[in-house]
Amino acid sequence: MDPSELDGESRKINKPKYSKFTQQELPACKPLLTPGIVITAFSLIGVLFVPIGIASLFASQQIVELVDRYDISCVPVDDKIGFIQNSNIDKTCTVNLTVPKYMKSPIHVYYQISNFYQNHRRYVKSRNDKQLLYKNVHLGIECDPESHAAGGAPIVPCGLVAWSLFNDTYTVKVNGETVEVNKKDIAWKSDKNNKFGNDIYPSNFQKGSLIGGAKLNESIPLSEQEDLIVWMRTAALPTFRKLYGRIEKDIMANDNITVVIQNNYNTYSIGGSKAVVLSTASWIGGRNNFIGITYLTVGGLCLSLALGFTILYMVKRSYFQDPWRPLVHVMEQR
Ligand SMILES: *[C@@H]1O[C@H](CO)[C@@H](O)[C@H](O)[C@H]1NC(C)=O
Ligand SMILES: *[C@@H]1O[C@H](CO)[C@@H](O)[C@H](O)[C@H]1NC(C)=O
Repeated sequence: MDPSELDGESRKINKPKYSKFTQQELPACKPLLTPGIVITAFSLIGVLFVPIGIASLFASQQIVELVDRYDISCVPVDDKIGFIQNSNIDKTCTVNLTVPKYMKSPIHVYYQISNFYQNHRRYVKSRNDKQLLYKNVHLGIECDPESHAAGGAPIVPCGLVAWSLFNDTYTVKVNGETVEVNKKDIAWKSDKNNKFGNDIYPSNFQKGSLIGGAKLNESIPLSEQEDLIVWMRTAALPTFRKLYGRIEKDIMANDNITVVIQNNYNTYSIGGSKAVVLSTASWIGGRNNFIGITYLTVGGLCLSLALGFTILYMVKRSYFQDPWRPLVHVMEQR
């Protein structure tokens, strides 16, 4: 509406309170992107990123990682679901791994599952975080159908996340001799201290007619049940690795590693796979070229842009002599 159409009264009412913001009088900064500044900025980013990329790639290449998928080879029959659900069959299975390169301790042992959607909306919410930390928490419907045992007593820990706890076990032998897989400190400290209570003990857990996974020792508080804590930090993607333990002993090149697996966990019903992973670690974490390649790409792009601009600048020097020239040029065209 044109302000002149309003009478004096409403014009006064409509007048906004004076502030630099409403009057658009805030100080502005309009940096002048001269060729010098642009070229320097791109070169700096390039010079910084390329070495970081090379260092990350190098560190990633140093990591020795052995992956063995065992869900198929460990079930000798066609009816895989029937096999895994039959609790009377011995599910022991061994896989052999050869070590291509010296592996320095600590060697991380992971289990890797694929096609398991721990990020599913209803699965993720099927837990009660208060119950993990405090006694006698009243349960709502969040944990159903895994919230109360047959007699009505609450299940601790309740919900599908805990219920589906992974239950394959690994024993590692190097050249025939069993080495210890240390399962201490595999969970985050913050989870152990702040999310799982040290006076909360499992009860009524995995007592229903349908067993979802591992059972818990009822004399160990939740804050020490590290497998559970690791499992309950749900994965964001359907293929994930979780830490099983650490081997605190170096393994030499060409050693024979045998992993004796108790193949209990049912990924067959969901069409998922299982693998055991042994991996050394470095400052970059596990073996992953993505970060290195990303840094190299961005750095390389910046360097080539800087080079391109430099050449452009050399060729069209007179054009850029006057820093205002591009602006004036644009305005002339309007
Ligand atoms: C693994 O090696 C052991 C002996 O080192 C052998 O008895 C066993 O059959 C091998 N297992 C597989 C699956 O190759
Ligand atoms: C392991 O979990 C499966 C479900 O994935 C269950 O059927 C089986 O009884 C469990 N076995 C043991 C030994 O906990």
